[in-house]
Amino acid sequence: MESMIKTIEFSLDCVRLLDQRKLPLVEEYVECRTYEEVAAAIRTMIVRGAPAIGVAAAGGIALGAQHLRAGSAEEVTAQFETICTTLAQTRPTAVNLFWAIDHMRACARQYHGAPLAQFQQALQAEAQRLLQEDIAINQRIGVYGLPLVPSGSTILTHCNAGALATAGYGTALGVIRAAHFAGRQVQVFADETRPFLQGARLTTWELQRDHIPVTLITDNMAGYFMHAGKIDLVIVGADRIAANGDAANKIGTYSVAVLAKEHNIPFYVAAPLSTIDRATPTGADIPIEQRHGDEVRLVGAQRIASPDIEVANPAFDVTPARYIRGIITEVGVAMPPNEQTIAALFTGSDAVSIS
Ligand code: MRU
Repeated sequence: MESMIKTIEFSLDCVRLLDQRKLPLVEEYVECRTYEEVAAAIRTMIVRGAPAIGVAAAGGIALGAQHLRAGSAEEVTAQFETICTTLAQTRPTAVNLFWAIDHMRACARQYHGAPLAQFQQALQAEAQRLLQEDIAINQRIGVYGLPLVPSGSTILTHCNAGALATAGYGTALGVIRAAHFAGRQVQVFADETRPFLQGARLTTWELQRDHIPVTLITDNMAGYFMHAGKIDLVIVGADRIAANGDAANKIGTYSVAVLAKEHNIPFYVAAPLSTIDRATPTGADIPIEQRHGDEVRLVGAQRIASPDIEVANPAFDVTPARYIRGIITEVGVAMPPNEQTIAALFTGSDAVSIS
């Protein structure tokens, strides 16, 4: 059995987050008591990973709602909107954030004009539901991904699309977990993922806890190991998938996908339907977060470049659909990903290939 990692927990007066900036050296939880603290936790990457950001935001909204001042339905709605807007301004790329906020807004609309206590209770219940649902969705992604992972495979992954990036179990690492716990002999190569080092710090920590064999490599070693025939497939997560199947994920994913194509290695994206943004036609329309230059100038606390050196730090890149063998979701695999197979995921039509 896998060890359950508690990435996010909610209570009425607290959103409790495992501090991902400190892993793997320190396992410490941060307790957010206001929605502003939750927003800051998302911005500073105490919690990160597309589904985890969405669930944390939902918890932040429910927490903020606990402190609403009683008033007319319009006054309550105005205060509620301030909370939603603050959380929506934390990170721009992961569409799961906006998806979760939309769910909380829909819940608020349903209880418009209800007594404040009932309104607050409904939002708390909705946030809890989104958290539990995320874990179940990831487990279903694992079920659909399992047939794509032959026993004996070595899987390369980039960044952390694991339990830490979700409410639990993970997307890309969920597929790997499903294969491991189904008894397939799999091993993982984890890219370190400069500059924030999610692969080195988080993916290795999480896989080691579950006794899944993992080897850490630097990002620039992927080509070497592919050329040497050591990698059988690649599985990564996504922050936003456009209607045509182009997928934004952690910076460096695109380079891995191009290398995989050159070496004829299947490249899969594992993500819930909430990561698919059908209102965004292609990858070119996905907003890419630009982060602070110090993430590049420093490695941990160690400065490696002069403080005034110009730095570019896009946090994500877009992998065009033509590099992706399949998108593994909780309802099936869009293979190959394109407008038709993506649309079919939402209608359950047989254009979705379930291998
Ligand atoms: O900047 P991060 O750490 O939030 O980026 C995370 C990723 O790129 C993940 O691969 C993605 O969110 C999928 S998480 C299941």
